[in-house]
Amino acid sequence: MRTAILYVSIHHGNTEKIAREIARVLDAELLNVGKANEETIKNNDLIGFGSGIYFGKHHISLLKFIDALPKMNKKAKEFAEKLKITFQSLK
Ligand SMILES: Cc1cc2nc3c(=O)[nH]c(=O)nc-3n(C[C@H](O)[C@H](O)[C@H](O)COP(=O)(O)O)c2cc1C
Repeated sequence: MRTAILYVSIHHGNTEKIAREIARVLDAELLNVGKANEETIKNNDLIGFGSGIYFGKHHISLLKFIDALPKMNKKAKEFAEKLKITFQSLK
């Protein structure tokens, strides 16, 4: 299964450290959301999304990226540095 971990890590690099470890364990592609695009989604079977929590939400650039995605039958997993883990499917 091809997997990509897309992350935003603005302040202390905390999310990046966790994203890097998840990508290592899963043998996944690791990408800052700013470098990801529609092809990244098309070319992978499972996508992990993560960022720090800022004012109660994932970073706006991550939320905008997800909002802009076409609806595809993909599995996605969303994570935050503080292990507030939720699961979300892109339909
Ligand atoms: C401006 C700012 C706002 C934050 N807001 C929240 C918040 O609402 N809830 C929370 O649990 N943590 C909050 N945090 C803590 C960050 O989620 C935490 O430091 C995280 O590790 C940052 O990830 P990063 O180093 O990958 O950017 C905030 C941090 C900053 C700098």
